[in-house]
Amino acid sequence: MLVFAKIKSVQQKIESLKKGTTVGFVPTMGALHKGHLSLIERAKKENDIVVVSVFVNPTQFDKQEDLINYPKTIEKDLSLLKSVFCDLVFAPSAKEIYADNITSQSFNFDGLEFQMEGKFRVGHFDGVGTIVKRLFEIVKPTKAYFGEKDFQQLQIIRNMVKNHKIPIKIVGCEIFREADGLAMSSRNARLTEAHREAAPFIYKTLKQAKVKFGTESALDVVNWVENEFEKHPLFKLEYFEIADEETLLTIKNKNPKQKYRAFIAVFAGKIRLIDNISL
Ligand code: PAF
Repeated sequence: MLVFAKIKSVQQKIESLKKGTTVGFVPTMGALHKGHLSLIERAKKENDIVVVSVFVNPTQFDKQEDLINYPKTIEKDLSLLKSVFCDLVFAPSAKEIYADNITSQSFNFDGLEFQMEGKFRVGHFDGVGTIVKRLFEIVKPTKAYFGEKDFQQLQIIRNMVKNHKIPIKIVGCEIFREADGLAMSSRNARLTEAHREAAPFIYKTLKQAKVKFGTESALDVVNWVENEFEKHPLFKLEYFEIADEETLLTIKNKNPKQKYRAFIAVFAGKIRLIDNISL
């Protein structure tokens, strides 16, 4: 496994590959878990080589405190990447990516950026767009892999690739869960014991909401979920929304021709967890 910190050297290596070599790319912010490894395994199956980036992108954090506390575990990450036979790792510094100008480009994601996460994490998706576009320009992969846990991010990246005519196939991969249902996330490691123990409540509630959505109105389901969290002593609900999978617009009237998804963001103490379920 080759590890690069410099843009020039990773580019030179990728450009030296035999013509026609397919490159699968998994961008990450490190603190790798089995969810990331499942993306890498899928990328390995579908491409000749796999490139993984490890970069905690400062421009996508709306709170400085969150950036400072984001787990940074590069040595452990590299040994995990080796264990799944990753071919190439790109782990640049912020200076290498942004030089002296740590700012985001402004994007128009056709309104996707104003829903859910966009309402609570101002500037977040401009930061994500900036780094993902930059990484795509450096790595120039054939396919790039993203988890459905960040479903809004996935749709935004699909939108960016389409609008900027970037010739990369975006592959969305199913949410990888712990045995008790908690969606895998680098943030889970920061949960207190009590929050971690209670955390399966989030997915359990999503599954119940899915069943209710079969027979009840969206508004009733939303009210029910809000009430469940109101009663819970350990979690604070930030939002629960049922939205169209494509536009991410909040559902008005159920249309059997449309695909819906329920999205949730919850505070477990200081740790913010997100999850979603296809309805
Ligand atoms: O999902 C993530 O880990 C990040 O948002 C990404 C896509 C690596 C961009 O920094």
